[in-house]
Amino acid sequence: MHIEPSIHNLRGMSDILPHETQLWRYMDNTLSTLLTTYGYSEIRLPLLESSALFERSIGAATELVEKEMYCFDDRNGMSITLRPEGTAGCMRARTQHGLHDNRLWYHGPMFRYERPQQGRMRQFHQLGVETFGMPDADIDAELIALNYRMWQQLGVDAQLTLQLNSIGNQHTRENYCAQLVQWIRDQAITLHPTDEARLTANPLRILDSKDTAMQKLLHDAPQITDFLDDDSRSHFDQLRHILDNASIRYRINPYLVRGLDYYNRTVFEWTTTHLGAQGAVSAGGRYDGLAAQLGGGDVCACGFAIGLDRLYLLLKQHIELHNVPHIYTVVFGDDIFAHAMAQIEQIRTAHPELSIVMHCGDGSLKSQLKKADKSGAILALIIGQNEMTAREMTVRELRTEKSTQHTVSDAHIAQWLNDYFIRHPFGNTIHKKLLQ
Ligand code: HAM
Repeated sequence: MHIEPSIHNLRGMSDILPHETQLWRYMDNTLSTLLTTYGYSEIRLPLLESSALFERSIGAATELVEKEMYCFDDRNGMSITLRPEGTAGCMRARTQHGLHDNRLWYHGPMFRYERPQQGRMRQFHQLGVETFGMPDADIDAELIALNYRMWQQLGVDAQLTLQLNSIGNQHTRENYCAQLVQWIRDQAITLHPTDEARLTANPLRILDSKDTAMQKLLHDAPQITDFLDDDSRSHFDQLRHILDNASIRYRINPYLVRGLDYYNRTVFEWTTTHLGAQGAVSAGGRYDGLAAQLGGGDVCACGFAIGLDRLYLLLKQHIELHNVPHIYTVVFGDDIFAHAMAQIEQIRTAHPELSIVMHCGDGSLKSQLKKADKSGAILALIIGQNEMTAREMTVRELRTEKSTQHTVSDAHIAQWLNDYFIRHPFGNTIHKKLLQ
């Protein structure tokens, strides 16, 4: 018989497997709850947008647009792109629908054709937070404080460092770039071809050079903070003053410029040394010119996006979550299942908070009890021929030393379970283990 080769996932596009989803949900729920408490509203955006949106916003001369976008023509010959990030789409939606909400968030998959490695995927997930119409540094500070509180709630604040910089206005960057290019040319060194291309097309990007010789050299290069215009400087001072008052620590990194072209003034990244090469877990900044670039008029904006896959990797080092049922129902004997399921459905109605797994498929009492034990359940409800005839259930405690058994009538089982779980507050179906 001819067997077809099995099909695998695409490179850099991972499945999130059942043993991982519990922690993902915990992370998502913690973050979305926090966003609500800060007054942010969720927006859900399409995965596909017109390619022009990203070319006009992220910048045609960025690596992202030049090399990493998943672009293709649709059946009508229109160039469309799988979103590589959410800021542009969020701004497009806000403009298009004339929204007045000034605090928004979104989350979901993003797509970049990068070389996959740990923490860098072709399909990855972001939670993005965007604010609109607030020109002062108060909102930049709020976003950073919110991001910091997210780390605190998830218990990873000690692993993350805030890198902060201001890249001023258009004029600042033009002046700075001219000086930087001149300074590098004056060093009279042969540049790596990628750096040579950057220096010509988008000189700020040279600060992100991967070439170690260039990185070393850049330590002595001019710094953008020395070129800031007065307004940008006082904006930056104001931001630092608020952060200092809130005891949020940061490291000024004069070489932090970000890879997307829409930023001005504040830029920041939260980095970690716990994830190897891909250390940026969250990043953002101010992008006051983007609305106008997309035909949305003069609306200043500021935001950030968390790389959820990286945050997950960080969390995984500290938290283990298991989906453990409260009850595993053991059903044995002919024609017992219909009776058992009717009883269990009544328990579910009485106690919607309890998680109950029903055994499906045959199996001896012994093998089913083994499965019950392996599931991590706290109780096994055993229903066989004798129990059905007597209108009762056998309850076995699986997590106590003596594995005590009780006989409880069908009529009283809901009340019995109520009393049992009050006396033994094993709590959640989720057992959270915090490692030191
Ligand atoms: P970004 O720096 O391109 O910014 O991405 C934000 C975060 O997404 C990164 O810090 C990283 O954690 C994660 N990330 C990026 N690429 C990958 C990848 N290939 N695999 C895994 N994780 C990745 C933006 O996207 C901006 N839209 C952020 C923003 C929002 N600025 C203002 N508002």
